[in-house]
Amino acid sequence: MNSLVQDARAAAARVGLKSDTIVIEGGRPLRGSIDVRGAKNLVTKAMVASLLGDEKSILRDVPDISDVHVVMSLLGAHGVQITGDPATGVLVLDPANVSHGDSAEIDALSGSSRIPILFCGPLLHRLGRAFIPDLGGCRIGDRPIDFHLDALRAFGAIVDKLPSGIDITAPNGLHAAKIELPYPSVGATEQVLLTGVRVPGETELKNAAIEPEIMDLIAVLQKMGAIISVEPNRTILIEGVDSLGGYNHRALFDRNEAASWASAALATGGSIFTAGAKQSEMMTFLNVFRKIGGAFDIEEDGIRFYHPGGDLKPVVVETDVHPGFMTDWQQPLIVALTQAHGTSIVHETVYENRFGFTDALIEMGANIEVHKEGLADPNRRVPRRALEQAAVITGPTKLHGTEMVVPDLRGGFSHLIAALTAEGQSVVSNLGLIARGYGDIVNKLEKLRAEFRFQE
Ligand code: EPZ
Repeated sequence: MNSLVQDARAAAARVGLKSDTIVIEGGRPLRGSIDVRGAKNLVTKAMVASLLGDEKSILRDVPDISDVHVVMSLLGAHGVQITGDPATGVLVLDPANVSHGDSAEIDALSGSSRIPILFCGPLLHRLGRAFIPDLGGCRIGDRPIDFHLDALRAFGAIVDKLPSGIDITAPNGLHAAKIELPYPSVGATEQVLLTGVRVPGETELKNAAIEPEIMDLIAVLQKMGAIISVEPNRTILIEGVDSLGGYNHRALFDRNEAASWASAALATGGSIFTAGAKQSEMMTFLNVFRKIGGAFDIEEDGIRFYHPGGDLKPVVVETDVHPGFMTDWQQPLIVALTQAHGTSIVHETVYENRFGFTDALIEMGANIEVHKEGLADPNRRVPRRALEQAAVITGPTKLHGTEMVVPDLRGGFSHLIAALTAEGQSVVSNLGLIARGYGDIVNKLEKLRAEFRFQE
C-alpha cells in the first residue's frame, strides 16, 4: 500500500468514514442547504495558539475534519488536555501541563500535516526547545520551510538539521526581530505571529500575508492579551508581552469550503445554500463566479450559490495571495469551467504542482491542456512569477463517469464534483484525503440529494 493510500485511510478512520471509496451516480443537480463551519486554515492554527496561554482556551465552530483530529493528537502528545469534540464543534484546550512529546508519536502524526512547524515558537517559549520531524500535507509542490527557519533564526533560535528532523533551541532566549518575507507566505506569517507575541520588544514583519484566516488568528492572539497591529503595505508590528491568557473564540467560516460547494452548484447546474458563509471574505471569488455566469444571493446567515440557467462563460483567472483569487479555489472552479462555452485560462502562481488533478478530468472527457512552464497571456493582471503553470480549459464538454484516485485535498474535492457532474457511475477512492479539510461530507452529500454509496 503506498503512503498516500495509508494517509487517506487513516484520515477516513479519524472522521469515522465507513470506507475510503465512494461510488457516485452523477449527472444530477445538487440542491439543498449545508452548514459551513470554521476554516481549517484558521482552526488548526488557533489550536496551536492555545499553547501560548496560561489559561484554558475555548474554540467554537470547529469542523469535524481529519486535520483537526491530527492537531488534537499533536497537542495531546505535548501535554495539552483537550475536552469537547469536533463533532459538536467545541473544543476546550488546557495548556497547564505542556511537555515535550514522544518524538515517535509526533513523527507518526506529522506524516499527514504541516502544522508541527507552527509549534516551534510556542514550544520555544514554553520549553526552550522544539523538535520538528518530516512534514506532510498535500503533495502540491516542494513546500519548503526556509522562510519559517529564517524567521526563527532572526528571533535568535538555533536551528539544527538532523537526519530525523529539525532541532530548534534558544540557549540565549529569543529577541525581537525585523523580518521581511521574500513572499507573503501564510505559514511563515503565522510563524512570526506565534513566536513574536511573547518575545520582549517590537517585532516588525514586512511583506506579511494578510489572508482573512491570519486576521482571525490575530484576533485570537489579541483575545489572549497580545498587542499586534496591521499597518499599511503588508507590515505587521508585534509588541511582545510577558504572558498570555486563554481565548474564547468562534472561528471564521471556511471560505474554501464555501467556494468549493459554490463550484459544485455551478458545475452540476444546481443550487446550494452555504450557511455561515459571508460576503466580505469571498468578494474576489464572487466576482469570478458572477463573470462565469453563476448567480448568488447574499443572505443574513449565508450565501446561496446557483446556476441561473443559460450558458456559462469562460474566464481568465490567476491565483494569488489575498486579496487575490486563492490557489485553493481553482481546482473546484475548473470543473465548472469544463461546462462553460469557450476557452478559460487558469494561471497558478502560488504552487508549482497544482494541476495534477486535471488528468482525471481529461479522462472523463474534459478538454484541458496544462502548460507546465506557464503561458504568456495579454490578459494577465500581474507579471509572471517563477512558480507558474497554466491550465487551458475549453468547454463545454460532457463528462462521463470513471474511476478516480484522489491525489490531494482540493484536487480531490474537484474529483468529487466532477463525479457528481458526470453522466454515469464514478468510483472515487482516497476519500480520506478530502476528509482532511471537508467536514461531514456524507451528511452534506445526502442533504444535497446526491446519489452515492460507500464501497466496502
Ligand atoms: C497555507 O499553506 C494553506 N495551508 C494552504 O492551504 C494554502 O493553499 C496556502 O496557505 C496559500 O493560501 C494551511 O493553512 C494549513 P504558504 P502554507 O506558506 O502556509 C512557498 C489547503 O488545501 N514557501 O503561503 O504552507 C510555498 O512553497 C492548503 O487548504 C516557501 O518557498 O502556504 C508556496 O509556493 C494547501 N518557503 C508559497 O510560498 C517557505 O518557507 C506559499 O506558501 C514557505 C512557503
